[in-house]
Amino acid sequence: MKEEIEKIKQSALSEIEKASDARQLDDVRVKYLGKKGELTTILRGMGSLTPEERPVIGSLVNVVKEELEELISKKEKEYGEQELNRKLKEETIDITLPSTKIKRGSKHPLNRIIEEVEDLFVSMGYDVVTGPELETDEYCFERLNLPKGHPARDMQDSFYITSEYLLRTQTSAVQARTMMANEEKSPIRVICPGKTYRRDDDATHSHQFSQVEGLVIDKNISLADLKGTLEIFVKKMLGENLSLRFRPSYFPFTEPSYEVDVSCFKCGGKGCNLCKQTGWIEVLGSGIVHPNVLKMNGYDPEKYSGFAFGTGLDRLAMFKYEITDIRLLYQNDVRFLEQFDRLDR
Ligand code: DAH
Repeated sequence: MKEEIEKIKQSALSEIEKASDARQLDDVRVKYLGKKGELTTILRGMGSLTPEERPVIGSLVNVVKEELEELISKKEKEYGEQELNRKLKEETIDITLPSTKIKRGSKHPLNRIIEEVEDLFVSMGYDVVTGPELETDEYCFERLNLPKGHPARDMQDSFYITSEYLLRTQTSAVQARTMMANEEKSPIRVICPGKTYRRDDDATHSHQFSQVEGLVIDKNISLADLKGTLEIFVKKMLGENLSLRFRPSYFPFTEPSYEVDVSCFKCGGKGCNLCKQTGWIEVLGSGIVHPNVLKMNGYDPEKYSGFAFGTGLDRLAMFKYEITDIRLLYQNDVRFLEQFDRLDR
């Protein structure tokens, strides 16, 4: 029995010696010291020994067991340290390496304009509202005093989806929505920026474009309020030294209606290619809300009056940033968009 134990010890020692990593070491532990390990089996079989042999063999096995355990844990510790050092070395970060550049996006010029317009009007007490781009004929035209068959519908070449639904041709649709949604029929002061669609496609017209609509309804609103408001709007957006000109025009939802021109900011009014030698550039449509529109949307024209205006945000962006082709605003070419980053610096 003693020789057998000695043999087991020797073979365990040589296997510990050979084990080259923590895993192999663990295999050796299981093989000799585990539940079904060779030494454990001997301890289990002690019952068949004589009472004299039992304490001798028992203590011998325990001595060997302790010796092996000690050796295994010593080697385990060594391997643990080696493994840690290997990991530390492998995962060292070289802080002298150049970093990979993270590419930043740019704020779109149209969004810059929208934010600027919103900030200005919010500072004057307006709410910013939105409406659906897929709009009904009712809100886009009928409730704005443009019944079916009205000749002024030809001013806007529309994308109809069905006979009732179309892509809105103007943010003016939100005028009727706001008036109808206001059940108390209390005063209104809103702007609505958003996307609009018409069947156009050339350097100054895109099938998708952006407008901002303004609507104010209250008691005793007059043309003076409209003029004052638009003067602040245009001067803040395009330049304090510009002059404005109100030219009588026609829109079905306003009476009287005006187109607003601004003195050419390129030539100062002398005449150039931008203003087509007229010295003026048209920037806005506007007017006093037509009594029919008030009535159709639940406001009593005897008590309330209002003004409205609408302008193309693309045109504003083009003037402000000297962009010559409107389609550039819708192509998402990073080389184009990045040019506006310097405005943030
Ligand atoms: N909706 C008009 C257009 O798209 C612009 C406009 C004109 C809006 C007069 C208005 C307005 O609110 O009063 O051409």
